[in-house]
Amino acid sequence: MGERLVAIGGDGIQAQVKLQTLNRKDFMRRFAKSCTLVAAAALIVPTILFADDTNFHNAPDSAQKMKNPYQGSSAAAQAGKTVYARNCLSCHGKAGKGTGNVPSLVDGKLTSVASGEVFWFITKGDKDNGMPSWAQLPAKERWQVVTYVQTSLPLAGSQQGSRVAPADTNTSKLQAPPPKPPFTDFRYEEPGQVRKITVNDLPQPYATHSAENAPQVVARPENAWPIAPPGFKVGLYAAGLDNPRTLITAPNGDIFLAESEPGDIRVFRGMTSEGKPELSSIFAGGLKRPYGIAFYPPGPDPRWVYIGTTMELLRFPYHNGDVKASGGPEDIADLPGPGGHWTRAVAFSKDGKELFVADGSGSNVDDPDTHPDEKNRADILVCDPTNCHLSVYASGIRNAGGGIAVDPETGELWCSVNERDALGDNLVPDYITHVQEGGFYGWPWWYMGGHQDPRHAGKHPELKDKVIVPDVLLQPHNASLELTFYEGGQLPAEYKGDIFASEHGSWNKAVRAGYEVIRVPLHQNGDASGEYEDFVTGFVLPDGNAWGRPVGITVAPDGSLLVSDDGSNSIWRVSYTGK
Ligand code: HEC
Repeated sequence: MGERLVAIGGDGIQAQVKLQTLNRKDFMRRFAKSCTLVAAAALIVPTILFADDTNFHNAPDSAQKMKNPYQGSSAAAQAGKTVYARNCLSCHGKAGKGTGNVPSLVDGKLTSVASGEVFWFITKGDKDNGMPSWAQLPAKERWQVVTYVQTSLPLAGSQQGSRVAPADTNTSKLQAPPPKPPFTDFRYEEPGQVRKITVNDLPQPYATHSAENAPQVVARPENAWPIAPPGFKVGLYAAGLDNPRTLITAPNGDIFLAESEPGDIRVFRGMTSEGKPELSSIFAGGLKRPYGIAFYPPGPDPRWVYIGTTMELLRFPYHNGDVKASGGPEDIADLPGPGGHWTRAVAFSKDGKELFVADGSGSNVDDPDTHPDEKNRADILVCDPTNCHLSVYASGIRNAGGGIAVDPETGELWCSVNERDALGDNLVPDYITHVQEGGFYGWPWWYMGGHQDPRHAGKHPELKDKVIVPDVLLQPHNASLELTFYEGGQLPAEYKGDIFASEHGSWNKAVRAGYEVIRVPLHQNGDASGEYEDFVTGFVLPDGNAWGRPVGITVAPDGSLLVSDDGSNSIWRVSYTGK
């Protein structure tokens, strides 16, 4: 039994790509095909930057020639396992699958890399992207761990049947002093608690060190259950799913779910008196990491369902009531990728004239000026839904691939964004904001208005005043994913029009934050005030281990909220009873 993807990232990023880079030809072909380059001039980069470079993390040729003195030694691999457990496991995970923007070491890439290059890379590290240098480890131990990650670890991972890892809690972190408001962590999250972070609250970069605190997701203990505000009830709508991610309600009330890792789009229909689906069917399968789902044209009678996969925007013919695709898929556009953030959220404008696709960055903070594989990433792209030539709608948005949505009342596009890592516990806030056409949101040179990222000091001073401060700053490292506008009829009137969003949860924070559903009040006028509210919590146990991780969220036809959770592989139903 293959292990499920425990760690499709906290913020949806996986193996970095710098190395499997596009060469110049691929790059040009890809963009010539699918993108109208809005800022063509800015994208013309000197030829030298496109030099074919197949070396691992740009390792020098000399690295490739270094021979592993322990090549093939099982004793060395065994010793390497201990080195790994002591130094690497906290980030890359026991099974080596990574999480957040920590890449998987078992996705097959390392096995084809020269040992000398892996040795070179772990010696040097990549501090700006969160990988420490291991130069202080004796060379012998570095070679041992290289042997382990290249040989035994991939095997161990594939043989491990259960996705539930043993508890891995650093209890000293739980004894950490209480967080200083407006920042918080899971210990203080509480349904109904209102929070507001402003730019004046931001600490300096590196005020705290960059934490390594990826969750080992544990099985949900019998006595653990999501917690909602008074008057609400949480039920289990569906369980036993396989990597449930985006949720969306079709115009006829069917519920569509992306099970990204197996590559399925699943549809649920109806609700029994026990609050379970009456029918569950695979609408389409065999896709490569499907995530975003949207029906076209908007309104009661769609003809197509559009699906964002990592590299391609697809569509299937659709008529109300279909539980299996009648044809397709049709390739609508190629999307920039594949490395790093892999989720592609999609949405249509209210009038159906525009199709939006969010494409997250390939890395934590690589500079697109010198990393051609970042071009047209960290953007929201737009095109005509039936003749799709993508152009940039808004830029500098590190990763909105987890969630974009159009406010059904105002028609404004909104996004839910994972900001960058490795600047400390309380930088940089994730955010939810309405999106201005042509707007620039800072990544990677700036953040939250005119705050320069220290890793890009001195760069692009001309952009400083152009950086938009988002509407609602969330806890840093929350990994904010799908968002939805509440237009249902079940919750009290004060919730009407508000945003609900799923926060997958942090890895780059000493004490976890996120792992909750939040509410962003829009005050019945479509405007956010910067406030958000903890809404559904309880996915982290008092000992710090997480059992649940919210990803998708949608409003069911009866007005309850459905929340997908790829920690416990289930869908929760949050309904209002008033009691
Ligand atoms: C603090 C968290 C952290 C620790 C601890 C850590 N890593 Fe990493 N590692 C990362 C991150 C983040 C990256 C991605 C860096 C980048 O984008 O360049 C990475 C990248 C790598 C890569 C490159 C993978 C690829 O496909 O590009 C290898 C190999 C690697 N780490 C091995 C190790 C080994 C071996 C250890 C232990 C000696 C270790 N790491 C410890 C965070 C960590």
